[in-house]
Amino acid sequence: MPISNPKHPNLKTFAHPVIQDKLTRIRNHKTKHAEFRRLLNEIAGLMFFQMSRHFKVDEIPVQTPVEESVGFKLANPITLVPILRAGVGMTDGVLAMIPEARVGHIGVFRDEETKQPVPYYCKLPSDISRGPVLLIDPMLATGGSASYAAKILHEEHNCQEIQMMCLVAAPEGVDRMYQEHPYLKIFTASLDRGLNENGYILPGLGDAGDRIFGTL
Ligand code: PRP
Ligand code: URA
Repeated sequence: MPISNPKHPNLKTFAHPVIQDKLTRIRNHKTKHAEFRRLLNEIAGLMFFQMSRHFKVDEIPVQTPVEESVGFKLANPITLVPILRAGVGMTDGVLAMIPEARVGHIGVFRDEETKQPVPYYCKLPSDISRGPVLLIDPMLATGGSASYAAKILHEEHNCQEIQMMCLVAAPEGVDRMYQEHPYLKIFTASLDRGLNENGYILPGLGDAGDRIFGTL
């Protein structure tokens, strides 16, 4: 079970030993992109298992080989929304758990000088608000990118059930999300110490996109 944090009512942290073991290997600067990607997707799958525990289900009849019984089916379509590019590095791990999920994309990068989000792409299912939405980005630093994406989902597409999955979060980003999107719960493997003068998370793991895709 993820742990609540009294200082951050919008945050849940996974202290699970298997997740922490994988996260530590991801943080290691010697870990190359193939292993980095594999571990990141494995963590994403483990996190999704918990994050989906309150998804609504409908009761349905099921005919087993032996008798008529009653089972369940997920009530509403689930949409994953990775923030390009690094969010893509967690998406396959979730899809391994729920292949029928739809995938929308929001493209936004952080200007290196200003740290402001620069949007460049958006493609979402037109009826995305019918079901739960999982916003995916391994890094929540200043919160500029995530806040921009949440605004599109909540204000432009009327999504009411949004959760965010990230690997590592900085308190600055978590606080900003609470101020700007208090309805949204963030699930992370670690609440890190803070940001350095370049807006990088400490201790963090460096530039997630570059480490996932080998573009260092
Ligand atoms: C990284 C990361 C987040 C963002 C976090 O993306 O994947 O999207 O920075 O920083 P913020 O909370 O201060 O906005 P980046 O801008 O490096 O783009 P990339 O994924 O395309 O490499
Ligand atoms: N984006 C990253 O990829 N890493 C950080 O530490 C901060 C923003």
